[in-house]
Amino acid sequence: MRISLLQFSPDYLQTERNLNTVEALLGDMDADLIVLPEFFATGYFFKSTEDVRAAAEPIPDGPTAQRLNAWAKASGATFVAGLPEETEDGALFNSAVVVTPRGWLGTYRKTHLFYEEKLHFAPGDSGFPVFTVTHRAGEAYRLGVMICFDWYFPEAARSLALAGADVIAHPSNLVRPDCPRSMPIRALENHVFTATANRIGTETKGEEVLTFIGQSLICDPNGQVLASASRAETELLSAEIDPAEARDRQLTVHNHLFEDRRPAMYALD
Ligand code: ACM
Repeated sequence: MRISLLQFSPDYLQTERNLNTVEALLGDMDADLIVLPEFFATGYFFKSTEDVRAAAEPIPDGPTAQRLNAWAKASGATFVAGLPEETEDGALFNSAVVVTPRGWLGTYRKTHLFYEEKLHFAPGDSGFPVFTVTHRAGEAYRLGVMICFDWYFPEAARSLALAGADVIAHPSNLVRPDCPRSMPIRALENHVFTATANRIGTETKGEEVLTFIGQSLICDPNGQVLASASRAETELLSAEIDPAEARDRQLTVHNHLFEDRRPAMYALD
């Protein structure tokens, strides 16, 4: 199956314009799985909670989820993409949706909020979900989702892998430098494919400037980088993968990555 990531710079609070930009950049959308960045259609560095509310939408009925739905139906691709979610009771989450050609499949709400996200959003309550998805050749694979700063907590990728993920989709708006060199390790230590779709460009709030670091990347279960993007260019990045490669976690005849775990020895709380 073919995974594609789009790295670009959205305009702050210009949802319709950003959706049109993404549609143009994706072109014929020849992929089984397309991962878009965190907050891909709204921008990231919200100046106020009022701005978040102006940008946030209900899932799956809001305009961004609906547009993803149309793209998925037209192309046969499954999309994982980040957006600000407002629930019926007014709660705000930093969310990512999974939208297949059959429609919205589920939502992940970011567990580990970064920096000023804590001023506006509630921490996610969805756990780390893994979805069963069918790619265009008709085979099922298991798709896990985490968002940006979740990478810093190895428990996130581990939870997804233990729940059976073959591929971890990772919509991101990275500003710290460490993630691109860490994702190959997340892939290796969990024996999963990872697909980190980051953004580029800068956003300001008053005097403060956030610079997004690009370097989107796709890793294989051996920790090899299959495709990687530049720091500051708009890029559509793709790799062909076989998700079944993630399923054999036998390391030697005597060692299995998961069966050799010793949870009773780990002090994780
Ligand atoms: C981040 O979680 N957006 C760094």
